[in-house]
Amino acid sequence: MISIFPKRKFTVFAGENSWKDIWVGLRHFFSLREDARDILAFEDAFSNFVNRTHSVSFGSGRMALYAILKSLGIGPGDEVVIQAFTCNVVPRAIRAIGAKPVYADIDPVTLNMDPESLKSVVTEQTRVVVVQHTFGMPPDMSLINKILGARKDIVVVEDCAHSFKPLAADATLDGRGFAFFSTDHTKPLNTHVGGVACCQSEKDVKLLRQVQKSAKQLSFFRRKQLQLSFLVEAIGHRPSIYPVLRYLLALIAKLDFMFSWPDNHSIADDSGRGGIYGMTPFQARLGIEQLRKADSNMRHRCEAFRALENRFRHYGTEQALPLLRYPVVVEDRRAFYSSLRSELPQSTWFDAPVSGGAAVYEDVLYDLGSCPIAERVSENVVNVSISGKTPLDVCLDPMRTQNADWDKTAGVSAE
Ligand SMILES: Cc1ncc(COP(=O)(O)O)c(C=O)c1O
Repeated sequence: MISIFPKRKFTVFAGENSWKDIWVGLRHFFSLREDARDILAFEDAFSNFVNRTHSVSFGSGRMALYAILKSLGIGPGDEVVIQAFTCNVVPRAIRAIGAKPVYADIDPVTLNMDPESLKSVVTEQTRVVVVQHTFGMPPDMSLINKILGARKDIVVVEDCAHSFKPLAADATLDGRGFAFFSTDHTKPLNTHVGGVACCQSEKDVKLLRQVQKSAKQLSFFRRKQLQLSFLVEAIGHRPSIYPVLRYLLALIAKLDFMFSWPDNHSIADDSGRGGIYGMTPFQARLGIEQLRKADSNMRHRCEAFRALENRFRHYGTEQALPLLRYPVVVEDRRAFYSSLRSELPQSTWFDAPVSGGAAVYEDVLYDLGSCPIAERVSENVVNVSISGKTPLDVCLDPMRTQNADWDKTAGVSAE
């Protein structure tokens, strides 16, 4: 049937945002002033929420990671271990500080770092291990600590870009509680773009604050662009409005108007738009609103997790987890997508061991073949967004009924 309305397929599935958040956006957009005290208020509320003593906000998650590395004095000659099956902005932040990213392979079920692989890549030069919570799945810190054993000189930094909470601060070998978060529009809490670095001690936060103080601030025009971009997405990317505005939203995206930090944003080079940035008071105010709704946001994700886990049994756990996205490893990604109900967003995170694939491997020092499990998983994984904009009934029945025998054609590897 020919329809005058575009199909209900979501391209960007912005995170949770209510009309209250939109009101915050409108108020800031039509005002010439912002209240800098909102930044401290957000950081305090964030610390409370994630059970960390200190939180320091930045323009993005990768900038928060860079700030932690800088505060630790990491530089040329140092190695930072990260897992493959990650976003290229993580190794780029490590390269920006002058250190070398070294890749550990992953566990094929949790998609987190494989502790045995970590063991094989740690060297005398290793100064930091970044432990990712892939899609929100908590990593097994006791195994990682066991591997690091006597290496008390190695600092553990949790990459919580996909998760709501870090592990208990004392779960890590060093107990310094370093963690960083992303609050970009695709993440659990949405301030359009943004990031937070957390730590436990006065000494560590002092150094992080120094990096924050030296950060650049967005110009007036860029702040307005950020506010407007947030409003366009928060209003337009709602299930009830998106189908009607789809062409307009596509046009706005094509005009390159929307505010974002490109993957290759040069953190180390201050010239032009490069450099490390602070968060704006508008984003902080949004962050406070997001934290107020975090419990219901997590509840929704737990229910969606249960529904999808019931069907796919990827994790094989009874525990309901507030994941960012639910992954399934399939044999035929295209068959899976064509059988998905149209309400579900159709994008795969990490379809290469480092997002961006071959085009970025040289920049991020990834050797193809070095992490075979991450490479295989990234060829076959699909991951479904389970934000508040994904209705629960869609999670319960994610496939169209005419594709009831999908499992046979596409083949879920777990089951
Ligand atoms: C695993 C992981 N870590 C860190 C980041 C960086 O976050 P940001 O885009 O806010 O810099 C991302 C971004 O998607 C990510 O997926």
